[in-house]
Amino acid sequence: MARSLLFLLLLNAFGLLCESEAAMMGSMNVSYGNQQMEEYRQFLLANGVALTPPMGWNSWNHFQCNVDEHMVKSTADALVSTGLAAQGYRYVNIDDCWGEQERDSKGKMRANSTTFPSGIKALSDYVHSKGLKLGIYSDAGFRTCSKKMPGSLHHEEQDARTFAEWGIDYLKYDNCYHDGSKPHIRYAKMSSALLKVGRPILYSICEWGQEDPAKWAGQYGNAWRTTGDINDTWASMISNADQNNIWGRYAGPGRWNDPDMLEVGNGGMSLEEYRSHFSIWSLMKELQAPLLIGCDVRTASKGTLSILGNKEVIEVNQDPLGVQGRKIRSKAGLEIWAGPLSRKRMAVVLWNKSKSKAIISVRWREIGFLQRLHSLLGTCGLLYDIPEESSFNDQLRSMKPSPRHQGCNTLVDQGCGLGRHDRNACAIYDRDTECNGWDQRS
Ligand SMILES: *[C@@H]1O[C@H](CO)[C@@H](O)[C@H](O)[C@H]1NC(C)=O
Ligand SMILES: *[C@@H]1O[C@H](CO)[C@@H](O)[C@H](O)[C@H]1NC(C)=O
Ligand SMILES: *[C@@H]1O[C@H](CO)[C@@H](O)[C@H](O)[C@H]1NC(C)=O
Ligand SMILES: *[C@@H]1O[C@H](CO)[C@@H](O)[C@H](O)[C@H]1NC(C)=O
Repeated sequence: MARSLLFLLLLNAFGLLCESEAAMMGSMNVSYGNQQMEEYRQFLLANGVALTPPMGWNSWNHFQCNVDEHMVKSTADALVSTGLAAQGYRYVNIDDCWGEQERDSKGKMRANSTTFPSGIKALSDYVHSKGLKLGIYSDAGFRTCSKKMPGSLHHEEQDARTFAEWGIDYLKYDNCYHDGSKPHIRYAKMSSALLKVGRPILYSICEWGQEDPAKWAGQYGNAWRTTGDINDTWASMISNADQNNIWGRYAGPGRWNDPDMLEVGNGGMSLEEYRSHFSIWSLMKELQAPLLIGCDVRTASKGTLSILGNKEVIEVNQDPLGVQGRKIRSKAGLEIWAGPLSRKRMAVVLWNKSKSKAIISVRWREIGFLQRLHSLLGTCGLLYDIPEESSFNDQLRSMKPSPRHQGCNTLVDQGCGLGRHDRNACAIYDRDTECNGWDQRS
């Protein structure tokens, strides 16, 4: 299995001069031409991007049906004691198997009396007392996927009211055992039911990407799955990343593509592979479809915690601009993924999926840096999480470092002078070109 090395860096497209200039003009016109940046600005305003992007944990990837209130409570405790909660991981989400086989005499869903004897309301009180939020799971069908509990099809309003009564903050809504009707009808029903209950409940549509939810789910939910279930293998992780990538153009603040929850810490991949997994998920901006930890936080290793708690990588994910990073080039297992950030910065991931030694390079213009920048401004580099070396000459390269290549000035001098602006080239600021959407399949 190919190991991966991953280089994540922020390029600040402006130096000091530029920061003050931008402040005066209050505009985001940066690297690809005025019109492009104006678009981003409107995007930002129209959608209220400055939401706190949710992050959290979900029981499924590690526990499947082995859920109970003690485990959920102690996971909430562990999110706090590990410091992950303070870094933003606030949602504690119970997946399938939390309920009794059948509804009660009034048609209400019930928690499993053996595993959740205190009931969901008591659990949400506990979780809320820790400063965290509680998520739950149901299904747009007659049974949930485990078949162990009823789904919410034709019970949408009652169930939404029940969830609100219990103090639920997040609903993952699955797609098993339905009546064959179109998903957008079934998912819309729960969407309007949730809107009526007087409690904000984040609505995560789990339709597995079957009927191109990117095209319709944004009007109903905060996020939609673009893929089938992830599993704890390298193959599954990169396949979900690639499937999610092609829908990048449909994502935006409050409407997110969801490549499924994290497997980091579950043991099927190496730490290095998990680091790629986390960085790519982070770059793809799972905001409303949060970065959901999928391991047992209570027993997570130091290595796992350092991946999940990487401050800079989380900041890329939580960046208020809210534009999904995408794959911009892939050749022979060497990939470049990149995405714009607020304050005229850019996150770039150089991802080595190949089996042999290789150097990965990206030309400045491929990631939207123009010659024009050179004369006007400067480029400042902030590098982190770089396992090996890198350099900045006519391009960004993964190779042996030299101290003089690491500072801001070096980047100004060497980075910006090259890479001519080519109007026909793909740059990641081209939100609407074909460069970054459909034809990025490789
Ligand atoms: C940004 O672009 C718009 C449209 O071309 C222009 O009117 C505006 O002056 C530009 N702002 C800056 C800061 O360059
Ligand atoms: C409730 O939990 C008990 C104990 O784990 C389990 O035996 C039972 O099957 C569960 N009921 C349902 C409907 O899942
Ligand atoms: C894991 O996912 C991969 C890729 O989607 C798939 O080929 C494989 O069958 C899955 N493995 C399991 C155990 O589900
Ligand atoms: C790419 O990965 C292969 C396999 O792990 C490794 O031999 C090679 O050194 C890596 N190249 C870079 C530039 O990281």
